[in-house]
Amino acid sequence: MTNIEMPRLDRDGIEDRSFGRLGRAWAYIRRHGPLEPLRLVHRHGPGASLGFIRRNIRHVLADRLARKWDRRYGVDTAGSIQLATLTVVGPHRTKGNEAVCTSPRTFDFIMKSLPRDLHDHTFVDIGSGKSRTLLLASRYSFAGVVGVEFARELVEIARANIERFRDPSRRCQALSVVEADAAAYDFPEAPLVVYFYNPFSQDVFDIVLKNLVSSLERRPRSCFVIYGSSSHRAIDWAKPALRETKVFRELPVSAMPGFLDAIRPIDYAVFRFQTAA
Ligand SMILES: C[S@@+](CC[C@H](N)C(=O)[O-])C[C@H]1O[C@@H](n2cnc3c(N)ncnc32)[C@H](O)[C@@H]1O
Repeated sequence: MTNIEMPRLDRDGIEDRSFGRLGRAWAYIRRHGPLEPLRLVHRHGPGASLGFIRRNIRHVLADRLARKWDRRYGVDTAGSIQLATLTVVGPHRTKGNEAVCTSPRTFDFIMKSLPRDLHDHTFVDIGSGKSRTLLLASRYSFAGVVGVEFARELVEIARANIERFRDPSRRCQALSVVEADAAAYDFPEAPLVVYFYNPFSQDVFDIVLKNLVSSLERRPRSCFVIYGSSSHRAIDWAKPALRETKVFRELPVSAMPGFLDAIRPIDYAVFRFQTAA
């Protein structure tokens, strides 16, 4: 008998939980019997059960769209990549969240909250995974685009993607990935757009935020912080943490539509650094 709990690996040997979702559901029903779905509805109620089914259908659809995007550009950015077996720099492995990419429609929507002209800004994606967001940011006129990622296997995939990404709408050629724990990362002394998509827990975020504020106080410059969060509701602690610094002001943003290419619904906030003067 096959072991249905075996992790599903992608072509690089990395555990990807977006593979085989339907197969796992089917195996579960085979294991517990055909009446198990009814028992689950009885146990959790029809509302929660419908929500669960909706989330899974959404995940499967969004994952298909992500893989289609990858085929179009000859890259590998899709998946729900588990960190447990990856080679990680620094002490924060268990604080990190799985690598799931930002969807193109989500990213372009968020970018509408920022000024149009950011040609002298460097875009920094904290926890850049397989580089999807770096590739999307390269379609804007940034001075540079930098990813910070602590999992070596993801850094290698990201660097290969950057080499391969041939998009006629690419405007920024200066793309790079730094292999580092975000908590130990020194921000570039350039105007910044710093992007977080649910990368890690609050204690690591607090360290990164403190480092960012010190860097801005040492050398005051323009800086926007974008925080995007989904099922972990990280936005509920990230926003207060940014406000408490007293150096970031929250900008008004439009509510995020439920884009089909996003694995999960996203909440986001945009903050701007303001000097004391
Ligand atoms: C939800 S994914 C976001 C991927 C990418 N930013 C995007 O939007 O497409 C979170 C990423 O953060 C990385 N990560 C988690 N903790 C980290 C840390 N302490 N330092 C650097 N990267 C980290 C994970 O390996 C994962 O790739």
